[in-house]
Amino acid sequence: MPENSEKFLEVKNVSKSYVGVQALDKVSLSIHKGEIDCLVGENGSGKSTLIKIIAGVVQPDEGEIIINGKSFKKLHAIDSIREGIQVIYQDLSLFPNMTIAENISLNQMVERKRKIISWHEINDIAEKEISRINKELNLEEKVENISIANKQLVAICRALTQDAKLIIMDEPTTAIAKKEIDFLFSVITDLKKRGISTLFVSHKLSEVLKISEKVTVIRDGKLVGVYNTKDLNHDKLSFYMSGRKITNSAFNYQKEKLEPKKPLLEVKDLSKKGNFQDISFKVYSGEIIGITGILGSGRTELALALFGLNKPDSGNIYIDGKLANIKYPKDAIDLGLSYLPEDRLNQGLFIKKSIGNNIVVTVLKSLLSRFNLINNNNKYKSAKEWTEELNVLAPSLDTSAQSLSGGNQQRIVIAKWLATNPKIFILDGPTVGIDVASKSNIHHIIRNLANRGMGVIIISDEIQEILNNCNRLIVIKEGRMVKEMDTNEVSEDKLLEILSRKIV
Ligand SMILES: Nc1ncnc2c1ncn2[C@@H]1O[C@H](COP(=O)(O)OP(=O)(O)OP(=O)(O)O)[C@@H](O)[C@H]1O
Ligand SMILES: [Mg+2]
Repeated sequence: MPENSEKFLEVKNVSKSYVGVQALDKVSLSIHKGEIDCLVGENGSGKSTLIKIIAGVVQPDEGEIIINGKSFKKLHAIDSIREGIQVIYQDLSLFPNMTIAENISLNQMVERKRKIISWHEINDIAEKEISRINKELNLEEKVENISIANKQLVAICRALTQDAKLIIMDEPTTAIAKKEIDFLFSVITDLKKRGISTLFVSHKLSEVLKISEKVTVIRDGKLVGVYNTKDLNHDKLSFYMSGRKITNSAFNYQKEKLEPKKPLLEVKDLSKKGNFQDISFKVYSGEIIGITGILGSGRTELALALFGLNKPDSGNIYIDGKLANIKYPKDAIDLGLSYLPEDRLNQGLFIKKSIGNNIVVTVLKSLLSRFNLINNNNKYKSAKEWTEELNVLAPSLDTSAQSLSGGNQQRIVIAKWLATNPKIFILDGPTVGIDVASKSNIHHIIRNLANRGMGVIIISDEIQEILNNCNRLIVIKEGRMVKEMDTNEVSEDKLLEILSRKIV
């Protein structure tokens, strides 16, 4: 902690309650000028709520916020922005059909209140910020066509045009690949040199330990403590977050060699131009297959193809030995497949509907009674079982999904698909955005499902997740399978090497 540098932001004893939930209870936090800080805590501990309070979009019930020495009893969003606080939310709030230059310059142009907008000016503003973060981007490209990592950089540049003194990012690294994370971190380090502070929320503790100088930990809406990162390690940090010791999820898990029987799922020479090519593999009952490869390798497109959401050009899919004709997700569901999408918050939830309704929406058919009526008791039974098993933190099943914390929304989507009792479950990034303790819980559940005979495919770029849970793994690069191997026979280093090796 830079003791002698000045404090930029001080949050003092802030509390906030919603109906039935004390989201924050007298939490304090401070950030010095040019400091890189992290805010960590389990799902639902109050991180996003605290960020919204600092941004002035949620009003606390009590407490004080001091920015640049000025005290605010009631902080409005416009005050927060004027004082130099810029929040980058997970959805990044960019305009997809506008260009990179327009997205970066928009706020500035609005502020200048010009009637006539000069394209020169727009480009100048954008170019200046992009070159300051040492990035080359085509300013004329529409934002909808660029990668998530680049969208994030655009959002950062837009924040910088607003003369940001503190940039807050809510889970910025969940959807971007390792190389892009390294670049993001170099940008953050450069901002520090310019005296700009960063506060970010992440569940990836190794990143928290790598980038931050100071960590604020909250649990159940209460402050646990503020720690210098150099005094922390992974175990200490997860202990502070959860109040318990988290054992490695691989502990005691014996990955058995399975007797080859008839495969539950067989994919044969599946190809789709520009997505993936000649993909063949089998999944047996009780087996967990990992599919890995950097983002953009075609792994998600492959999963979508299995689920009837991305029509392949050629190749076949067999389920239980029979040729499967999967045109729509409904066909896939009828054949016993379930798919947990990568982008759950957009694709996975009916955000305004209740938790209970979200979970049962995919199983309604099987719940229809003989007289075609939906029995409400039945309907909620499976929802209740799975929310309990997945530890969903919510006042009741009637709570709307919208009011849940990000990580708890993720769990609802998982519960929703588990309630369909699938034969084959494809999970794309099953623990993205989920805190460490629940992560091992979810891994445990997945392994139990496999033990009961389900065939599971885990798509992930987290090497530990793949190695600890899967029996076999497939590496995909630029749409092609480059390796298939037994996870007992590959080390973490070896896998990293395969992933980073160029294809020749
Ligand atoms: N608008 C709201 N209405 C009702 N309850 C809310 C609302 N917003 C947040 N909550 C509740 O406040 C608590 C804290 O939520 P918050 O989103 O701050 O958690 P978080 O730490 O960001 O979690 P995550 O890691 O899952 O994103 C949760 O119990 C959540 O359900
Ligand atoms: Mg959150």
